[in-house]
Amino acid sequence: MTGLGTARFRSAEARDLEAVHALEVASFSDPWPLAGFRELLDQSHVDFDVAESETGELLGYLVALRAADEAEVANLAVHANARRGGIGRALLDAFLARAPAAGVRAVYLEVRESNLAARALYASRGFVQAGRRRQYYRKPVEDALILRRAL
Ligand SMILES: CC(C)(COP(=O)(O)OP(=O)(O)OC[C@H]1O[C@@H](n2cnc3c(N)ncnc32)[C@H](O)[C@@H]1OP(=O)(O)O)[C@@H](O)C(=O)NCCC(=O)NCCS
Repeated sequence: MTGLGTARFRSAEARDLEAVHALEVASFSDPWPLAGFRELLDQSHVDFDVAESETGELLGYLVALRAADEAEVANLAVHANARRGGIGRALLDAFLARAPAAGVRAVYLEVRESNLAARALYASRGFVQAGRRRQYYRKPVEDALILRRAL
């Protein structure tokens, strides 16, 4: 695995789906099914981006859904061997930079309360707590914090 210095960023394609799903399974205890990713491809209201190494290994992905003037970062993961190299931040920043041109005024997301790595990333990008969904997650059951960033 390589660091951000050699990472490339582009929209997800059908050929990425298996690696995206493998990273999803490795990253989350209650993963999305493969079909959940497939149906996001080529949808005009969806940002589905991947980071890959120079040799084409998947390093991370981000899924964001836009609706009217709001968007939700619905999924974000970076390969365990590539974490803490700036890839998650770069995926998020690229989406946040593009979103205003698509009419997005505010971005929301949910995060497990115990996910301190993700919370630190989002806090560093100006997300603040807007609410809480009690017992929102399974495996294990845990509250979600709802975070918001105005653009
Ligand atoms: C959360 C996640 C996407 C972060 O991706 P990443 O590429 O490792 O993050 P980055 O290297 O871009 O880190 C950006 C900032 O986030 C914070 N951060 C990231 N990982 C952290 C950790 N383990 N502990 C504390 N802060 C952390 C830091 O502020 C970091 O900046 P710094 O390295 O300059 O201190 C990654 O840890 C991951 O895939 N986790 C499992 C899946 C997940 O939880 N996804 C989010 C669901 S809401």
